[in-house]
Amino acid sequence: MAFQPLYDISVIEKPIKAALGNENTETTIAILEGIRLAMNNYCTFRMPIVLTDEAIERLGLNEDTDENPNPDEMVDPEHDFTLRTLHNDETNKDWLVAFTSEEESKKGPESAIYTVPLFDILPRVAGIDAVEGIVINPWGTAFTLRRSMIEEILRINNPESQIFFNLGDITTLECDAIVNAANERLTGGGGVDGAIHQVAGKRLNKACSELGGCKTGEAKITKGYDLKARYIIHTVGPVYKGKGDEASYLAECYLNSLNLAMEHNIHSIAFPAISTGAYKFPAEEAASIALDIASQWLELHSEYGMQVIFCCHDQDMLDIYQRVLSDMTKQMNPPDLQGPVDLALQIPKADE
Ligand code: APR
Repeated sequence: MAFQPLYDISVIEKPIKAALGNENTETTIAILEGIRLAMNNYCTFRMPIVLTDEAIERLGLNEDTDENPNPDEMVDPEHDFTLRTLHNDETNKDWLVAFTSEEESKKGPESAIYTVPLFDILPRVAGIDAVEGIVINPWGTAFTLRRSMIEEILRINNPESQIFFNLGDITTLECDAIVNAANERLTGGGGVDGAIHQVAGKRLNKACSELGGCKTGEAKITKGYDLKARYIIHTVGPVYKGKGDEASYLAECYLNSLNLAMEHNIHSIAFPAISTGAYKFPAEEAASIALDIASQWLELHSEYGMQVIFCCHDQDMLDIYQRVLSDMTKQMNPPDLQGPVDLALQIPKADE
């Protein structure tokens, strides 16, 4: 599958800057969520290193000059360098150092730099008892990422089971299945339905005509025909009339589509924003239902491994989904990410 990573390293920088002077559980969670997203989107850290003498000789670098070449791709990370550390005299422990940008790394003493993806370095750091964690941007808006925090990020992150976003046309996606926002007769129509029928070709019309229609909230499956996706899951969203039962029908669409996908051994599925076009379901509420059902489903089937892609046709819809997701994340119970608790304070005195 080829999805454009949606996030760059600013997903870490922004919450760190926002937290400055206002550190609390919520700002810490925002930073950790940024780090998790950066990790899943192939973002990299710039880590200062000390080259071994052999590497300096082999690379023809002159130790006496102030040159600080970037040894990326010229060195073997296993043998040619060690990562620089900051020593904390108070705890007598070492912290690794990571910069989010060249600008950040140039704010302090220069060093040769190795660029490493977060998905590579974070699991490794989690396994090294000798370091206390990583100090991100120590010369700027420093954030101390303790090992316990890295472990928490890795624990809640299952890259095989995840929500992605895509901006554009769902018919172009290379995933196991795309979902069609169809009508009850499965005859094809306008909007995303029309686009899917057009690209999948005439064989799709024929296959749909043999399915006996599809009730609102239900889901049916056909092959993808001329699409890049192997399957199309057709579901019928509710027409929004403000009667009150539309939300449960829309939830059924997402739930039945995901269940049907699992029955067919589908591991990546892209949804359009069902019912938000011709059927006029308010986008914000629809996004919240979609994200809610998908995240609950992923949690319930965490062993299965499903990539759920929300394909937004325009930037406004993508903004809505991301806003709803970030509100949902804030409401989640914060994991235990606080510093060590001074247990002595919690022991009641004998005479109490
Ligand atoms: N890729 C992704 N999303 C798309 C695409 C596309 N190619 N085209 C449209 N969309 C988006 C719209 O912007 C909207 O947010 O899909 C969402 C759903 O809009 P509709 O396609 O109108 O679907 P819906 O509101 O569920 O109405 C279904 O429309 O075409 C008919 O036969 C269909 O009668 C059914 C009704």
